[in-house]
Order: sequence, then C-alpha cells, then structure tokens
Amino acid sequence: MKQSYESISWQDDHLVILDQTQLPLREIYSEIHTVGQVWEAIKKMKVRGAPAIGIAAAYGLYLGVRELESKNFTSFNVELNRWIEYLTSSRPTAVNLSWALDRISQTVYANKDEDLEDVKEVILETAKTIHDEDKRRCEQIGKNGAELVQKEWNILTHCNTGGLATGAYGTAFSVLLQAHADDKDIHVWATETRPLLQGARLTTWELQQAEIPFHLIADSAAGHLMRTGKVDMIVVGADRVAANGDTANKIGTYPLAVLAKENDIPFYVALPLSTFDRASETGEEIKIEEREPEEVTHLAKTPITPKKTDAYNPAFDVTPSKYITGFITENGIVEPDFTKNIKALFG
Ligand code: MRU
Repeated sequence: MKQSYESISWQDDHLVILDQTQLPLREIYSEIHTVGQVWEAIKKMKVRGAPAIGIAAAYGLYLGVRELESKNFTSFNVELNRWIEYLTSSRPTAVNLSWALDRISQTVYANKDEDLEDVKEVILETAKTIHDEDKRRCEQIGKNGAELVQKEWNILTHCNTGGLATGAYGTAFSVLLQAHADDKDIHVWATETRPLLQGARLTTWELQQAEIPFHLIADSAAGHLMRTGKVDMIVVGADRVAANGDTANKIGTYPLAVLAKENDIPFYVALPLSTFDRASETGEEIKIEEREPEEVTHLAKTPITPKKTDAYNPAFDVTPSKYITGFITENGIVEPDFTKNIKALFG
C-alpha cells in the first residue's frame, strides 16, 4: 500500500502537521513547537481522527516537558500530569488520546530513577513508537479487513478514517486501500459527514489520491442506497469502543448501523486495539463531545440559517453493539459474543 502524504511527522525538534481544516483546497503543513499549539491543533481539528490525535498528543507531551527544569522526579511528575490533564481536555471522546498519554506516563514511571534529561528523551522515543506502531497496526487492519470484501462490492464509509486520521493508511480506509490493491474492483460510497464534512473534504481527497472509484453522497442518501441494493458492506472507524462493543464514532454512524441491520448489510467497525476502552462497560459511560453550534449554522464560515438560530451539535453517537457485525482489528476479526471476545483480545 502507498500513501503520498504524512499527516503528522516529527522533524528534528518539532512536529509538522498537515492542516486538515484547509483541505482539500490548500495543502498546508504547519510547524508546531509548543504543547499549547498541539492542544489548539487538536481542539480546532487541524489534526483529527482518533489515532492521529493520540499520536499528536504524545508528541505534545514531550513539547510540554522538554524545557522543564525540575529538581527531582516528584516535581517533574507533577508537571507531567498537569500537561496530561491539559492535553486530555482538548477533545473528550476518542480514547486514543488518553491511551497514548497514559502509556507515556507508565513508561516515565518505569524510568523514574533515571536522569530527568534521559526521561524526557524516553518520552519522545515513546511518542515515536506509538506513531510507528499505529502505521503497522493500520496496515494490518487493512489486510485483515480486505479478506471480508468480495469482488465488485459497493462499500459505504462514513467520516474520514484514512492516513489523515491515523499514523498512516487508516482504519476503515485501510480496508478500502487493501481491497483496491488486491484488485477487488470495489466502489466506495463516501458520506459527506455533516457538519464538518470530513467525508466530502477529506475522504474524497484520500480516495482520489488512492485512485479508488467512488461517489460522494449526502448523509441522508445512505438509507435509500441500502434499501435499493446498492450497498454490500459498511465499514467505519471508531473513537471509543466499550467493553461490550458499544461504539462511539462520528455522529450519523448509529443510523447507518440500524439501517444496515434492517437491510441485511454487514456493518463492520475497523480500529486498532488502542481504541478499545475496557474501563467503560457499555456505551452509556462514553462522554460525547458537543461542539460549537456555528458548525451547524454555518458552512465553511458562511451562515446558512437565519440570525440567532440555535443549533445542537453532538460530534459523536454511540452504536449499540447489537447492530455491529464485527470489529476489524490488527489482531483479526472480532465477532459476537463481543464482551467475551473483546476481553480475549487483550489476553
Ligand atoms: O471529529 P473527528 O473528525 O475527529 O471524528 C473522526 C471519526 O469519527 C473517525 O471515524 C474516527 O476517529 C476513526 S479514525 C481512524
């Protein structure tokens, strides 16, 4: 599989991100030198997608601590935890963010007797490892998922789950990439994904780069396509999956899953193991991010409603696991019984 861009890269002493708010009109790579800039990039969705924000936050933590002049491990750890809390506050739903920061925190603790300058280097190395691992995991997700795809299938996907949203290749998008590379002659239905249009702006951009045949559809067209036999499979990503398989993903995922069940269409969720949150027993415990009403009342900063229109803007929804056919992970496909089989994934 190939990918011609890197959404996140570490260069010498700073981070570089492909600013996703500017795509597809402008390809702007922004340099990031401070933890505050990382927080802002995540909050404003210059970098977005569950695995990608975990990776960015990991580098951000290093940027936060690298100038610290703590005298001992205890005071260093207090500052570290302060930055962890700060970065975690940027976006609440995708668990990859806190997963990555927690992993660094544990690695730091394991090195607590080392020189603090060395501990800082361990943080940077762990961020790079999280980044590299995500690329490999996503590639494997693609290989595992492509085995489910039959020749000439029409596959519907929602939001953006490609290399922009991950270390590389993507989650659900990696399945599309691999199926295309395997000459399965797939065709993709990409939902526009209101309100921020990640499908229309980003997934189309990635599909074009990968030369995968596709059509963009309005979100509201999905049910009609399913009922008229034009969809063979749905594959989406995830931001947080509870221990019982309930899945938080981009708003609009839940109705797609319900309609898929109604129309006997397989509905798969593709994700790395870092997106499972076994501390949440069910989807009820998942915090759903609410974003600014302006994202709904405006299109690309242009108002589309009468002045003073109130809007409610939940960014994610939770799909109960009974609507999910299976999870495509780097360790294989997880089928029901999800509670039992997700537990088994982690040994
Ligand atoms: O709000 P976003 O654009 O960060 O939401 C992204 C999604 O919902 C993706 O489907 C999810 O993060 C999986 S990305 C590989």
